[in-house]
This record gives sequence, C-alpha cells and structure tokens, in this order.
Amino acid sequence: MRPQLSDYKHLSAGKVRELYEIDDDTLLMVATDRISAYDWILSTPVPDKGRVLTAMSFHFFDIIDFPNHLAGGPEDERIPAEVLGRAMVCKKLDMVPVECVARGYLTGSGLIDYKATQQVCGVDLPAGLVESSQLPEPIFTPAAKAELGEHDENVSLAQVADMVGKDLAEELKADTLKIYTQAATVAKERGIILADTKFEFGRDKDGTLVIGDEVLTPDSSRYWPADEYCEGKVQPSVDKQYVRDWLTSPASGWDRTSDTQPPALPADVIAATRARYIEAYEKISGKSFADWPGSAL
Ligand SMILES: Nc1ncnc2c1ncn2[C@@H]1O[C@H](COP(=O)(O)OP(=O)(O)OP(=O)(O)O)[C@@H](O)[C@H]1O
Ligand SMILES: [Mg+2]
Repeated sequence: MRPQLSDYKHLSAGKVRELYEIDDDTLLMVATDRISAYDWILSTPVPDKGRVLTAMSFHFFDIIDFPNHLAGGPEDERIPAEVLGRAMVCKKLDMVPVECVARGYLTGSGLIDYKATQQVCGVDLPAGLVESSQLPEPIFTPAAKAELGEHDENVSLAQVADMVGKDLAEELKADTLKIYTQAATVAKERGIILADTKFEFGRDKDGTLVIGDEVLTPDSSRYWPADEYCEGKVQPSVDKQYVRDWLTSPASGWDRTSDTQPPALPADVIAATRARYIEAYEKISGKSFADWPGSAL
C-alpha cells in the first residue's frame, strides 16, 4: 500500500511546488500543475504540467554527469498514488544559498544588466550584443535567493565567494557551466536551444556537493525552438508562448501594467499549452509521455 500525502509533514509551498518530509533524511518534492506568467501564478492550472516537468527532471538527472539528490525512482513506493508521476524522493541537502545560472544567450535580466553596464554579474561582454544574441561562450551569472515575492538578485562571482567561500564559488561556476554545456548540446541535437538555466546545489550527509531541486525543466530554463531563432527579437517560448500571447491579446482584457491578477485561461489555451509541454518533453528526451507514470488529475 502506498502512503497518503497526508502521512507526510508539509514543509513549504513554492510558487509551483510543494515540499514534504518523508523522514529526517528524505524529502518528497511534488510538482503541481500551477503555471506562472509575467510573475503571476495563474488561477487556471495546466493539467499534466507537473508530470511533464518531473519527467524532464528525471530524464536530465539521468544523463548529466554529476551526482544528484534523487533517493528513488519515479515509481518509488514512498510516493503516494495521488502524486505519482509528479513527485521525487530526494535526499535532504544542506542547500547552498545561490541560484547557479548559466547563460549561453542574452535575454531577460541578463540583457537589462548588459544594457546598463556591458556586463552580466560582473562578467565583461563585447559591445554590440542585442536581445537574444548568442554569447561568445556560456557565462556563470549567479543570483542570491530572494524572499517570497521578490526577484532573485544577480550577483558577481566575488559576491558569491564572500557568501560561501572562494573555493566553493569557483566549484559552483565550473560545475554549472559544465552541466549547462552538456545539456545544451543534447538539446541542440534535438532542435532546441537551451538559452539559459538555473541549478541549485547542496551538500549531502557525507559532505558531497550534489545537484538538487528540479533540473532543466521549462520552469528553470529558457528553451527556444532552434528553427525559429532570430537574433534581435524576443524568442517565442517553447512552453508558455500561447499563455503569454493570449494574456497580452485584447481577448484576455488584461492590462499587464495594472497590478491585477490575470484572468482565467480559456480551455483552448490550456489545451494548447498542455500539448506544448508534452511536445517539448518528447522532443527533448526522445521518449513518449504516454509511458510516464501517473495520470492527469
Ligand atoms: N534535496 C533538497 N534538500 C533540501 N532542500 C531542497 C532540495 N532540493 C531543493 N530544495 C529546496 O527546496 C525548495 C523548493 O521550493 P520551491 O522551488 O518550490 O520554492 P521556492 O524556491 O521557495 O520558490 P520559487 O517558487 O520561487 O522557486 C527550495 O528552497 C530549494 O532550494
Ligand atoms: Mg525554487
């Protein structure tokens, strides 16, 4: 008999995930179907999003060349039936309080920093780069984790060194760039650009540095369709483009500049977005989502 979710202590709720404690050494990380856009959590979930993101994390944990926090497979017996397919059993880590971001392309907060200083997180860049430019080489652009509701703050390697020590800062940089490069190469072979991504590392009981959290999901990464890539403009997102397009269209009646919760997504936008998530997983992994455990709630 599988346990029930209520058998576990609920530790915290993130924007899209819920964290439970299985025992002193073990966590259950549950990905919900919540979706965010323009910094809002939408009132309408996207069915199967949590399962797709969990499938992607498992896929990449398996192929990246670095120890990870998984303490069981996707069908581990400690996973309650109600969250099967969208939960990970993880070793509890002592997390390093740095969001380890790697960027191969210039966009988002990186572009904002570049326009102001020609640097991102203290890394000098050549002049003349524009929205979505590929960088001469991938760069490490860490961020300090902000309080709930605040944006993470971009920091320099020197600031990370002040926080966690020089050796660990250098190690985070090297590991982040190595894993990003490996994943970006895999994605590129499959027609997808991994523009940037974020990892979180922690130490396990033995003091080994391992990669935690989710990895290489559309929530922690920017994935762009390679065949539509065009320097100088904002790229369509592999997963959220329908949502963003609809929210900013007259049909939604929503004013992005207003401080009001966006309206509920219509059924066709939800269905199209769900299909995009599944398509992205299948394209990137080469696996069929029909084979993934659990079923839509
Ligand atoms: N193996 C692990 N052991 C301990 N903590 C972990 C582990 N893996 C991830 N975490 C932490 O668990 C938390 C997961 O929470 P989640 O990402 O859902 O919310 P959040 O980071 O607080 O907010 P946001 O929704 O902005 O991401 C994060 O604080 C993350 O650092
Ligand atoms: Mg998080």
